[in-house]
Amino acid sequence: MAVTIKSEKEIELMREAGRILAIVHEELRDFIRPGISTLDVDKKGYDIIKKFGCTPSFLHYNGYPASICTSVNDEVVHGIPDKHRILQDGDIISLDAGVIYKGYQSDAARTWAVGEVSKEAKRLMEVTEQSFYEGIKYAKAGCHLYEISAAIEDYVVAHGYSCVRDLVGHGIGKELHEDPQIPNFHQKRRGLRLQPGMTLAIEPMVNIGKYDVCWLDDDWTVVTEDGTLSAHYENTVLITEGEPEILSLRN
Ligand code: MF3
Ligand code: CO
Repeated sequence: MAVTIKSEKEIELMREAGRILAIVHEELRDFIRPGISTLDVDKKGYDIIKKFGCTPSFLHYNGYPASICTSVNDEVVHGIPDKHRILQDGDIISLDAGVIYKGYQSDAARTWAVGEVSKEAKRLMEVTEQSFYEGIKYAKAGCHLYEISAAIEDYVVAHGYSCVRDLVGHGIGKELHEDPQIPNFHQKRRGLRLQPGMTLAIEPMVNIGKYDVCWLDDDWTVVTEDGTLSAHYENTVLITEGEPEILSLRN
């Protein structure tokens, strides 16, 4: 599938999807606390998404059973909400959510602290978020896609962490996953030339230890092979002539 260039009308719908998704994450951040289950988080997320008249894009996507991916500690992404998984003080939880508004998608992830977390966990969350911002310095017309990939990895490695390689960011629009794939590590080629109107979900997944991951027997949950903590930060971004527009953030 070719990379799609969105019209101004489509961009307007993706702005609204992103604006709503930003609020979903803010409301979930305020909901997260020790003692609740990851299924509680999913239910809350579903309710917020519905409140805004949107559809949760992950629910039943390739058979995924929930609206919000809830990945705790060494879980990288795609954790399945579970009423028996109770959040503990000191955990970190990555929440990945997608909404569809009038046929257009937005996809974003945040990692939150549950109660008081270790210094190392805080640093991991900061480095992961900042690696996204380092990457999008190259998310503009005329740059090449893999400049984003390289900038993310350089920042993460400079801080002693590693970028997961088995999962990538992606184009997004009418579909959750469109071309191109966006790796979070150096590529041999420079990749496609970015053009205004491209919309990309850029999503570094960062491990404290090695970048290797494995899948649990549920066939969804991705965990670090060495058991170290992992964080995830993602936004849906619009390429413009100038600075990128982060659609899934407010302001
Ligand atoms: N943000 C994830 C991604 O880009 C969400 C997919 S989870 C799924 O792939 F459950 F929908 F598969
Ligand atoms: Co995504």
